[in-house]
Amino acid sequence: MIKELKEQISLAGVIGYPLKHSKSPILHKYWLEKYQINGYYIPIELSTSNFKDGILALVKLGFRGVNITIPHKVHVLELADSITDRAAIIGAANTLYFSASGKITADNTDGFGFIKNIYDWYPYWKPKGSKAIIFGAGGASRAIIVSLLESGVDRVIILNRTRVKAQSLAESLGARVQVVDWNVDMEILRDAGLIVNTTSLGMIGQSEFSHQLDPVNKSCIAVDLVYNPIETGFLKQAKKLGLRTVDGIGMLINQAVPGFEGWFGKKPAITTDIRQLLLK
Ligand code: ATR
Repeated sequence: MIKELKEQISLAGVIGYPLKHSKSPILHKYWLEKYQINGYYIPIELSTSNFKDGILALVKLGFRGVNITIPHKVHVLELADSITDRAAIIGAANTLYFSASGKITADNTDGFGFIKNIYDWYPYWKPKGSKAIIFGAGGASRAIIVSLLESGVDRVIILNRTRVKAQSLAESLGARVQVVDWNVDMEILRDAGLIVNTTSLGMIGQSEFSHQLDPVNKSCIAVDLVYNPIETGFLKQAKKLGLRTVDGIGMLINQAVPGFEGWFGKKPAITTDIRQLLLK
């Protein structure tokens, strides 16, 4: 019976706790319908205490894999039979693939989604040799910094409210990553090629991003990971200064592409209609 299910219907999903705000089910359902794939993408809330048993049950049921979100992104690595290089360096996974024989591969597509999204907007972006300023030092910041270093960015400077968190992040990533005080003189922005807000500042219900971006050069690109609202105070300020800007919804869409392709066998296209759907 399970064998038959596996052959007929491709199953995947997202595991987290809570899952109320996850946009992934909307995204994958849209692509499944668009490409007429006989499959389902199911949100499954699992708390930490039943996480391991839950994942192993999904493997047995013949799921092709799942996305992993808060609070499981780090400890999920303990369950994996193999870990991709990028997930190992980031120290967290957001995508699992289950093989036909039940082996679990853990991957992290957050950094990939971040970089791909910038190129979607600005195909001529040249990260090599440039300087990037990152506001925030949480999980998202780590994934992004790893992907920027891989893309050839010369220097990454982290500003975080809690400096000690930025320091331990920088120390784990090598000499190209440095830390300055959260309230440092913004002259530091002058020669930046990229500035990124990875904090939750500017999100609905949170305080506004209040640093002045003034000294920044017009050739700089400003990226905000916050997508609710889509045009944050950070992006408004950047636009006023004449910068090119990138909002957070495209990263969300791009990070989902490798999972969808691996589970359902089709690489989905990034289109404006999916952006509109997610912004509703
Ligand atoms: P994520 O995984 O999305 O990166 P996170 O790990 O909770 O989420 O990190 C949230 C980031 O937003 C942190 O850098 C946090 O700063 P602290 O390390 O000082 O907590 C930052 N952040 C959240 N609220 C903030 C605020 N009001 N002012 C400044 N930074 C804030």
